Amino acid sequence: MKQTCTFLLLLFLATYQLNAQDAKMKTFIDGLMKKMTTEEKIGQLNLVVSGYVPTGAVMSEGVEPKLKNGQIGGMFGFHDPTRMKQIQKVAVENTRLKIPLFFGLDVIHGHKTIFPIPLGLSCTWDMGLVEKSARIAAQEATAEGLNWAFSPMVDIARDPRWGRISEGSGEDPYLGSQIAKAMVKGYQGDDLTKNNSMMACVKHFALYGAAEAGRDYNTVDMSRSTMYNYYLPPYKAAVDAGAGSVMTSFNVVDEIPASANRWLLTDLLRNQWGFKGFVVTDYTAVMEMSLHGLGDLQQVSTLALKAGVDMDMVSEGFLNTLKKSLDEKKITMAEIDLACRRILEAKWKMGLFDDPYRRLDESRPAKETMTPENRKASREIAARSFVLLKNDNQILPLKKSGQTLAFIGPFADNHRDMLGTWVIAGEWEKSVSVMEGVKNASPQSIILSAKGSNITEDTSFIHRLNFYGQKMVAIDPISPETLMRTALETANKADIIVAVLGESQSMSGESSSRTDIGIPKEQRRLLEELVKTGKPVVLVLFTGRPLTLEWEQEHCAAILNVWAPGTEAGNAIADVLFGDVNPGGKLTTTFPRSVGQIPLYYNHKPTGRPYNGEYQTKFLTNYLDSPNEPVYPFGYGLSYTTFSYGDVKLSKTNLKGNETLTASVTLTNTGKMAGEETVQLYIHDPVASISRPVKELKGFQKIMLKAGERREVSFRISTEELKFYNKDLKYDWEPGDFDIMIGGDSEAVKIARVNWVK
Ligand code: BGC
Repeated sequence: MKQTCTFLLLLFLATYQLNAQDAKMKTFIDGLMKKMTTEEKIGQLNLVVSGYVPTGAVMSEGVEPKLKNGQIGGMFGFHDPTRMKQIQKVAVENTRLKIPLFFGLDVIHGHKTIFPIPLGLSCTWDMGLVEKSARIAAQEATAEGLNWAFSPMVDIARDPRWGRISEGSGEDPYLGSQIAKAMVKGYQGDDLTKNNSMMACVKHFALYGAAEAGRDYNTVDMSRSTMYNYYLPPYKAAVDAGAGSVMTSFNVVDEIPASANRWLLTDLLRNQWGFKGFVVTDYTAVMEMSLHGLGDLQQVSTLALKAGVDMDMVSEGFLNTLKKSLDEKKITMAEIDLACRRILEAKWKMGLFDDPYRRLDESRPAKETMTPENRKASREIAARSFVLLKNDNQILPLKKSGQTLAFIGPFADNHRDMLGTWVIAGEWEKSVSVMEGVKNASPQSIILSAKGSNITEDTSFIHRLNFYGQKMVAIDPISPETLMRTALETANKADIIVAVLGESQSMSGESSSRTDIGIPKEQRRLLEELVKTGKPVVLVLFTGRPLTLEWEQEHCAAILNVWAPGTEAGNAIADVLFGDVNPGGKLTTTFPRSVGQIPLYYNHKPTGRPYNGEYQTKFLTNYLDSPNEPVYPFGYGLSYTTFSYGDVKLSKTNLKGNETLTASVTLTNTGKMAGEETVQLYIHDPVASISRPVKELKGFQKIMLKAGERREVSFRISTEELKFYNKDLKYDWEPGDFDIMIGGDSEAVKIARVNWVK
């Protein structure tokens, strides 16, 4: 009773304080807005790029005079506290109303200390680590003057041709939602006004990951039910977690570009979800709507404002046309006021009006970025993101002594490609290469290495990869024949060959869609020759997306997928290869056999002609020339130890209403070393008013077990886990039978059935 009273009192005080804060903010902003001219209000809605990271064809011009005239609300594209301090000084000392600026950047997987690419990070299934990576990123980014991260990217993606699959958390809405929350918490911390907190920006709202044919910026066409049940949950989770801003996507949603879609930005985001922050467009998305066929710049700018966009990134459609539209009565002052208020509120919540320089302390970068602790965290998180795809005869872990090991491939002695896509502040020169990591592990084994092949020899492909004239991929002056010969000579001296192959940094990420998602052919040829030596070949795979690995799965003794691991790449890889860390990563995307199977994802709907495992059978849903199964399913990943699952035990088999169910399995570590397993819970609703997927992830737990140890792992299931959006988009559960499945991946599950009535 006493406890309840204390709790209620605290709740009352917190609510009172919040209301008092809101009232204070309102008074302040009301006062400020009274002083603002229409032009100054529109100025707050303008976000300009100024720096060295344009992500489109257009760069902002005349930034300085605009700044002085109060025509800029925020800037992005650089991370230099000295320069930012000068700019902020102009904004708060030399403009009429002294309104501070936002400084944004694509802080995607770390800032200076780089963590695994988001797709890799998601394979940790560890929300503590995900949050920690975002917290460190915020600490470092705010040390360099930033107050706004264009992250998390929470777009569900089922198409590995799409290069930006690397930037998200894979194909599952449940896991994606957990990660979205953890990232927002990590960036924003517990108090947005702190000098190490930055505002998160959830992107790309919405459905960007469903671009047709996996081609970036392409159109999207989707039913409302698919949106609500599969694609929208992670955005909503980020909004529920308090994300301060949302970025629109480039694609259409229901035929209307996201940035002009009032249903999306106002009805759904604000009215249904209760979003209180501000909406910014993606890069030049306002002006691109003209190319979508919605009218000239003035027209698309009015559409965007009316739809609920508050800030225009780079197009300057708001800056240059809103006043005219106001004069022509195409928009109202109230619409401009609303957008302006939302930007000012966000600045207020970030504490910028109290102290515009709170994140502009030039002494911080030296003390707070790339610290040994941050590098240590990056190493630990990277090792936990690796997915062991195959390990025949326990060839891994490698022995530290008594063996000759040959590390062969263009990624063995490579720093450039360790960091992956979107690393604006990260310095690849400071990354640890695989060879360095292996040597740091000081093995007594003999370590040899050779490059073996170029990443690719296709010069037009290289031209695309080296965008903006950067030399990211180059052809070695040594001839391909000599590279290959030297590699085979080296390989022949070894007991075990470690082939270090895959995709380079710019092969995934924005504007990096591929129609062939195999290991580039020069590297694949090298792998074939290495396999022909008859020695066991361990493949260490760098990639930003699922690749087609049927041949590799058949011919390599082991495959360790390391994605793009970040600053500590080589050390983390050595940790896992030599067994100091037992890998426990699990895939968050399906790895198809071929591009022809795409889209291939685990939570698909049943059909009336179910696949029976035999692809030759006529009139069933299958192919003439390929099995339906992927090479590796969602949730899959091995360990150096093995786990066995007992049958699913249910606390009850008949439930009613709001009762809860406990489903458990006995998990046993049946191998010879300690290891961590991600136990996954899936549910299937076999009879419902709409066709429901064959299974859906509804829970997971990471369980560490010593060799031989056994543990009961239990999930509490309530009707929350049974809910879905029905044909009227009502979120509810329907009574009947449910299959409860628990296992180590989406295919290897044990099943039990319950009946649950209302
Ligand atoms: C990308 C966004 C990014 C923005 C700013 C765009 O091209 O789609 O993800 O945040 O550029 O750099």
